[in-house]
Amino acid sequence: MLLSTLAEQDRDAAAKLIHGALSAWYDQHLNQVGRFGVDWEPFRIFPDVYECLDPGRALVVLENEGGPLRGICFYHPRPTHVSVGIVAVDPAAGGRGAARAMLEEVLRIADDSRKPVRLVSSLMNLDSFSLYTKLGFVPGTVFQDLQFPPGQHPPRVPARDGEVRMAVSEDLAGLAAVEQELTGLDRTRDFEFFLENARGIWRTMVLSGRDGQVRGFLSSIAAGGTWMLGPGAMRDEADALALITAQLEAHAPGNPVVLVPARATELVQALYAAGARNVELHVAQVRGTAAEPKGIVIPTFLPESG
Ligand SMILES: CC(C)(COP(=O)(O)OP(=O)(O)OC[C@H]1O[C@@H](n2cnc3c(N)ncnc32)[C@H](O)[C@@H]1OP(=O)(O)O)[C@@H](O)C(=O)NCCC(=O)NCCS
Repeated sequence: MLLSTLAEQDRDAAAKLIHGALSAWYDQHLNQVGRFGVDWEPFRIFPDVYECLDPGRALVVLENEGGPLRGICFYHPRPTHVSVGIVAVDPAAGGRGAARAMLEEVLRIADDSRKPVRLVSSLMNLDSFSLYTKLGFVPGTVFQDLQFPPGQHPPRVPARDGEVRMAVSEDLAGLAAVEQELTGLDRTRDFEFFLENARGIWRTMVLSGRDGQVRGFLSSIAAGGTWMLGPGAMRDEADALALITAQLEAHAPGNPVVLVPARATELVQALYAAGARNVELHVAQVRGTAAEPKGIVIPTFLPESG
């Protein structure tokens, strides 16, 4: 097989590959038949968004020169780190080292710029968990993927000493500063992208204190097969609950998924009490140095850049 980068004319093939790999894996291993729907077209969003946000940063594995696409891996270089997501391999080509080859290339690129590599992987997927930990990634924060039953959402919980409102472009520096303070990461480019919102699929809310300073933020996406809250960073569980309930109210009667740190016990209990169910578990993994985040961090899968 041959390592290359995604060509513009292969974006449909990439969408088919991502849809096919995820569907096959969840059907076979978790008995979640139909979880990703029958259509691959909604998965065009991944190559389309990522080529816009991080042009030329999609690695692919081809069966041979000009041959069919067997694997794809998007990576996202940021000033403080490189992140990875999605990784998908055609089930017919599984176990032949395609995923390892793409990840080793990302690790080489990250090592050249002396940056840690970050990703979020499913704790219910031993294939990807093994792949990443064999390559030196170390598991950290565990997340519960929580979802409310269709048509149900928790009552809105107001912010203490502040208000939750829609973000505006002037909030960019505030968002970046909160992220830097709580996680040490710089994802200003991502926040710019959300606030510009050229596709109209992101919704970003901020929690501003009485002094007008941004104290936390939470974005969300509703597009194609991806309907979830995140990314977000907040100082404490109360701020997280205010932002999560505001976002869920805005999406009602839809029921997006939200990944909440399992150690945020009061937040998890508040969401359980309102009817939330666990639908999957994920774990943040880092290869290289990383400090545990302060406060509450909520990841997303589009863009998977933290
Ligand atoms: C996860 C996935 C990308 C793996 O792709 P792949 O090309 O089959 O993986 P590779 O062959 O490159 O590598 C798998 C590695 O994991 C190892 N592995 C797999 N299961 C293992 C286990 N239970 N214990 C230990 N190691 C294991 C293999 O031995 C191999 O390691 P090696 O390179 O040292 O031999 C593929 O199964 C997939 O696309 N799944 C669906 C989509 C998905 O879940 N993506 C990940 C999250 S976005």
